[in-house]
Amino acid sequence: MLRLYPYVRPVRGRWAGAAVVAVVASCLGLVFPLVLKWIVDGPVADRDPGGVWLGAGVLLGLGLLEALLFGLRRWLVARPLAGVEAAMRADLYRHLQRLPVAFHDRWASGQLLSRATTDLMVVRMFLAFPLTFLIVNGVTIVAGLALLVVQDWGLGLVLLAPAVPLILVCYRFEHGYAAASRRAQDQVGDLTTVVEESVLGIRVIKGFGRHRSQARAFRELSRTLRGTELAKARLLAGILGVITLLPETALGAALVIGTVQVADGVLSAGTLVAFLSTALALRWPIESIGFLLAMSQEAATATRRFFEVMDEPEETGPEAVAPAPSGGGDGLRFEGVEFRYPDAGPGSVPTLRQVDLHIRSGETMALVGATGSGKTTLTALVPRLHDVTAGRITLDGRDVAAMPREELRTLVSMAFEEPTLFSASVAENVRMGAPGAGDAELERALGVAQADFVGRLPDGAATQVGEQGLSLSGGQRQRLALARSVVGAPRFLILDDPLSALDVHTEAAVEAALRRVLADSTALVVAHRPSTVLLADRVALLSEGRVTAVGTHHELLRTHAEYRHLMAGDEAAPGEAAQG
Ligand SMILES: Nc1ncnc2c1ncn2[C@@H]1O[C@H](COP(=O)(O)OP(=O)(O)OP(=O)(O)O)[C@@H](O)[C@H]1O
Ligand SMILES: [Mg+2]
Repeated sequence: MLRLYPYVRPVRGRWAGAAVVAVVASCLGLVFPLVLKWIVDGPVADRDPGGVWLGAGVLLGLGLLEALLFGLRRWLVARPLAGVEAAMRADLYRHLQRLPVAFHDRWASGQLLSRATTDLMVVRMFLAFPLTFLIVNGVTIVAGLALLVVQDWGLGLVLLAPAVPLILVCYRFEHGYAAASRRAQDQVGDLTTVVEESVLGIRVIKGFGRHRSQARAFRELSRTLRGTELAKARLLAGILGVITLLPETALGAALVIGTVQVADGVLSAGTLVAFLSTALALRWPIESIGFLLAMSQEAATATRRFFEVMDEPEETGPEAVAPAPSGGGDGLRFEGVEFRYPDAGPGSVPTLRQVDLHIRSGETMALVGATGSGKTTLTALVPRLHDVTAGRITLDGRDVAAMPREELRTLVSMAFEEPTLFSASVAENVRMGAPGAGDAELERALGVAQADFVGRLPDGAATQVGEQGLSLSGGQRQRLALARSVVGAPRFLILDDPLSALDVHTEAAVEAALRRVLADSTALVVAHRPSTVLLADRVALLSEGRVTAVGTHHELLRTHAEYRHLMAGDEAAPGEAAQG
């Protein structure tokens, strides 16, 4: 938890001030018994009503002061700590944006969501409350026990006796509770994932009538979580029981011994009153230790979960501008590229291997291959969504690995297989492709993508598309994603099956417009249909992770049975297809 210090640093002055105020306020509580002792041994014993009123006035004043100080403490810490939480959350978000795609492939989104929300809230509450009060109550307990021992060391020792077993019990509790709270917080993450998936997948769930089984999965997880929370509650109940029972027993014993001593005249009544009320004033600090430790343990777990994500390495790459391009206008080259997904076993066949492909400057290359042959994977390597495991990729002679990512991703523009839109307006979604694009560029891009439907939306390009653009049709989404990829007139354009959801007439219109755009760009277009392939100057055939042929559409149709098969659904003998 020491790692939280950089976040607390900016507010350390106020935080420390608040802690000091709280210590003073809490120790004020220990002055009450001394005033009581004075009242009992002085004015009460002397039957002096004026003195009693004076004492009562002092007590009232002390009470008001204590309340004011605790209020001041709250005021001191509330705002700065909300700032600490916000800063941590901003850092986490920034980091998540910079983590590689491979990280996001591996982590469930609910786990990230719960860390960004619940866990950070737990940390803020820890800084505001348990951390201060562990210190405050610790100081109060030590001061109070010292007072007790000074007042009457014999009775003081009786009260002190439970300390050793209590410390041992607390220590064991910490261990058990740490494990349980880790389990609970992970389970909250799993539960969040299920809820998120069922909200996003609500169409599938309804369409297949799966709400029962989905609800069962949810209930199962939530029952597990409930079990863990109950286990935590049992642990807490156990320690609270011990923490209450032992000191109360000691207090009872002290009361009996003290009364006997007063009866014997060994002890003044005032001292006994002061002693017992000091002991009672210590009740809350001692009893609170149990749940303060529990809250601290939860905060420790939350901190650990926060830093687990923060410690994941961000995408690496040169930040400074790389040296000037050497072979300007060389196009896009794959040289001996091999790629294996990080979660694949080390001995497995790589998803891509020995890929050598040269797309000349200004050329459009179609990438054709059976489903699962690695087309999407190959396209993702160009803007370095994943990094090649061997070989290299160059843009105009420059290795993409040596380029600052920002520059690389300005040069390369993509339309993905899944047309992902964000809850923003149509124009904002398209402008993601080139933040500086003006209205003319926006119009042009929408024109290329044949997105004339935008004009018919209630607010035109300013219409909000709703979460994930689900208020649009599949083809409409695809056309907006296409517009986004061409809006910046990129040097390199990568389209992963961009027209799959369009009817033949719209497809033909998009193709005609695309051909004009593609004339200026070096493009790699994944295609399944002959109509899309005809856009391209040449075609590369990808077969089980390798480029097995490159040529024009007609050449490949003539020479490659596998290609013929893919394009026309012609019967190709299996042997012939494998031969390629
Ligand atoms: N994130 C991933 N982690 C591990 N393996 C993956 C991942 N994404 C894809 N694969 C595997 O890599 C192989 C190639 O997938 P890819 O998506 O590149 O195929 P594709 O040629 O684009 O297919 P399609 O035509 O269906 O879009 C598949 O066997 C797939 O299971
Ligand atoms: Mg694909």
